[in-house]
Amino acid sequence: MSPDGAAGQKLAVVMVGLPARGKTFVARKLQRYLAWLGYRTLWVNVGDYRRARAGAKQPAAYFAPDNTATRGEREGFATAALDDLLDWFGKGGEVGIYDATNAEPARRERILQRCASAGVSVLFVETICDDPAIITANVRQNKLGLPDYAGVRADEAFRDFQARIAQYARSYVPVADDEGSYVKLVDAGKQVITSRIEGYLPSRLVFFLMQIKPTHRPIWLSRHGESVFNVTGRIGGDAPLTGRGREYAALLAAFVQARTAHPAVWTSTLERAVDTAALMGVVPRTWRALDEIDAGICDGLTYEEIRARMPDEFAARAQDKFRYRYPRGESYADVIQRLEPVIVELERQPSPVLIVAHRAVIRVLYGYLMGKPQDECPHLLVPLHTVVQLTPTEYDYCEERFAL
Ligand code: F6P
Repeated sequence: MSPDGAAGQKLAVVMVGLPARGKTFVARKLQRYLAWLGYRTLWVNVGDYRRARAGAKQPAAYFAPDNTATRGEREGFATAALDDLLDWFGKGGEVGIYDATNAEPARRERILQRCASAGVSVLFVETICDDPAIITANVRQNKLGLPDYAGVRADEAFRDFQARIAQYARSYVPVADDEGSYVKLVDAGKQVITSRIEGYLPSRLVFFLMQIKPTHRPIWLSRHGESVFNVTGRIGGDAPLTGRGREYAALLAAFVQARTAHPAVWTSTLERAVDTAALMGVVPRTWRALDEIDAGICDGLTYEEIRARMPDEFAARAQDKFRYRYPRGESYADVIQRLEPVIVELERQPSPVLIVAHRAVIRVLYGYLMGKPQDECPHLLVPLHTVVQLTPTEYDYCEERFAL
């Protein structure tokens, strides 16, 4: 169910731009963000259709706009991907992300018409970049590893991809004001231009798009050190650290300091999290949004006590842990909504970040970063005294865990 009450509204996010301008990076970020917020979201990539149906290895000339031998075939792949996206909208999809160059106005006009007949509104997201340094880095980091270049020498693959870009550039026309609603992201987010953005969801997406930047810094997620409540099995509260918890704080500080001199450190406002980050040597940023799930009338009880005193509540939580809301407290779904500002800040944060928080909160942040379905989040394994290190890769994160 869409989280903003806009049931029945359907939005196609149509990517536009030359190759190696970060379209897939942006598309995948949007997909993950929307799915995490609870929208039924699908990403389709026309390049994948081409690779599956025509084979990955095609010379630059294959992509020439005036290559009459391949043009029909390429349009066919674009149409097949759009057909699948529209079918999925017909089955209850809410936001579809159509990832292709869509460089020519005629193609975009066809997309607009087909979406209009299916009752789907369109938001164009165009990535524009003329900075040769950014383009070269993007080709080297993200394109040479494509199946298109398996077994091809790096310098040869690089030259071929530049030639492919040049073919697309011959017929590329940026989205014009009369084509509808658009966002243009210029030079990896340095400038953002919008036109005819209306309504809650498109505005929210523009806000998110303004923050995302390609980064290479790691993110470390950790629960606080062991607290007095952890030892007695009580949930919630604001208990202090135990001796073991304080030892973990020292080990965590050494772990982070061995990897960076300038971490950003974010904690919840609760004593056990603040104290776990106290030896880090930087002033942490404390967020109420990072506080543990509010267990309402169950705060301070053990799971056994909840089961004995409120068996119906205990059973209801076991039934649907993601949606279950503690009386006068929160559900995991609520925690996601309140963590959105943290996600937005995380996306634009350039330096390594350590987040010290709590089990439910770390599960939800991890779920966002690793693209886990909402329902899985409450069941993710996040033990005490373990740092989860997530390092950005092309479009995802590489995970390592360190038990300290
Ligand atoms: O037990 C530690 C704790 O952080 C509690 O404060 C919190 O209620 C709980 O974990 C969250 O985990 P779960 O959703 O599995 O109950």
